[in-house]
Amino acid sequence: MTHSRQRWLVANWKMHHTPAQTVDFLLELLPLLKRRPGREIVLCPSFPLLETAAKTLKASGTKGKMLSLGAQNAHWEFSGAFTGEVSVDQLAGVGCKYVILGHSERRQMGETDQIINKKVQSAVRSGLQPILCVGETDMERRTGKTQAVLRRQLRACLSSISQKNRILVAYEPVWAIGTGKTPTLSNIEDAHQTIRQASGVTRVLYGGSVNPKTLPALLPSKEIDGFLVGSSSLDPESLAHMANLL
Ligand code: PGA
Repeated sequence: MTHSRQRWLVANWKMHHTPAQTVDFLLELLPLLKRRPGREIVLCPSFPLLETAAKTLKASGTKGKMLSLGAQNAHWEFSGAFTGEVSVDQLAGVGCKYVILGHSERRQMGETDQIINKKVQSAVRSGLQPILCVGETDMERRTGKTQAVLRRQLRACLSSISQKNRILVAYEPVWAIGTGKTPTLSNIEDAHQTIRQASGVTRVLYGGSVNPKTLPALLPSKEIDGFLVGSSSLDPESLAHMANLL
């Protein structure tokens, strides 16, 4: 296994942790991280934690530079009367480099492929790198629709996007998120190949019940450029352990 390839470990904290816990987390995490050329660790906390995280990383000097920041969502408009929403420019302004878009938990709240497409367009225009989530439900998998669902989501979510090199796609089967279930490696590899062919995006991550125990079996695959991790990213030791394997 060479380490010359670029690899991502994206920590999706969802609606967990307070500002004080974020500081404690980072102060515990940073000393545990080993240098790994080509690896990028992206911390995606909720909006109110971003500035705290950015300040803590800055104050931590070179170690702090081992982490990038990302958000978990954004609105597609750049500013305006959208109570409760957050714009891509606001996120870039607090130090975000990435933004997760189209996560299945947001799709379940009513986000459509068309809405996600508008968000991807705005994120690219603002200079953020979207981490676009796609994936099939359990029913779609059981009825053999996985490849068709991925193609449909990618076609719609990436419509009119020419800068494919700005985008990461995360393959996240809905049935694998937070369930402890994972697809076989060959199913993941098939899905990643479909994603590359259908989208023209080359950087494809896997997400869904990744943890320090499941990660090692997925690591050798050339089809997987990194991982999007939810619950196992909430503990600094667990996140450091996974990051140091990359
Ligand atoms: P999980 O979540 O690692 O807890 O399964 C992944 C995600 O929702 O991005």
